[in-house]
Amino acid sequence: MLNSLHNSVHLPRIAVIVGSNRHDSSNRKLAQALVRLGAGQFDASFVRIDDLPMYNQDNEGDLSSEVVRFKNELARADGVLIVTPEHDRSIPAVLKNAVDWGARPWGKNSWSGKPAFITGTSPGAIGSALAQQHLRSVMTGLGMILLGGEAYVTFKPNLIDEHGVINDDSTRKFLADFVDRFAQLVTQLAPAARASAA
Ligand SMILES: Cc1cc2nc3c(=O)[nH]c(=O)nc-3n(C[C@H](O)[C@H](O)[C@H](O)COP(=O)(O)O)c2cc1C
Repeated sequence: MLNSLHNSVHLPRIAVIVGSNRHDSSNRKLAQALVRLGAGQFDASFVRIDDLPMYNQDNEGDLSSEVVRFKNELARADGVLIVTPEHDRSIPAVLKNAVDWGARPWGKNSWSGKPAFITGTSPGAIGSALAQQHLRSVMTGLGMILLGGEAYVTFKPNLIDEHGVINDDSTRKFLADFVDRFAQLVTQLAPAARASAA
């Protein structure tokens, strides 16, 4: 009985975007660790951005299959988790390209009204702070509802193990609080999820 009740609960859907196309990305590891922390609170799907064509307004009338897939994945999501590195004190080009495709064509903004948790990591002391700040500005302009607070993570080689567990207790607790608040925010803003869970 408990199992069938549990199975009937519709968890909110989170689209996870990693702002790095690097094979061994530390931000992908952080994203996987955050998804692990959120287990049972949301269903997470990683959304690919490294195969999107370079944004070109000429192609808005005939979107590539990759762009259509990307925008459909965003449409299905109740919230978006973006985990980004910092490149030259801003967000990497691969992420900005995805942001632009999500925002266009005019009237088809895939970001608007969706809650987002923006975080990221870099080996430097400020842990991607400037990239996150730029991204917050961009995504606020596009109508996203951003989770409050700042989560800057300085990446160290053993911070996250091969199972996606954050080894450092204080970092794990710090990030678990963000994940819990994000899950609450997404649940509040996803009426379908609330109705299904009632
Ligand atoms: C082109 C480029 C620019 C970078 N600029 C910054 C920077 O401004 N600030 C910073 O903290 N790290 C910077 N880095 C280092 C990245 O944070 C580091 O490579 C990080 O591991 C990238 O994330 P990833 O492992 O998820 O790919 C830069 C790296 C590259 C390749």
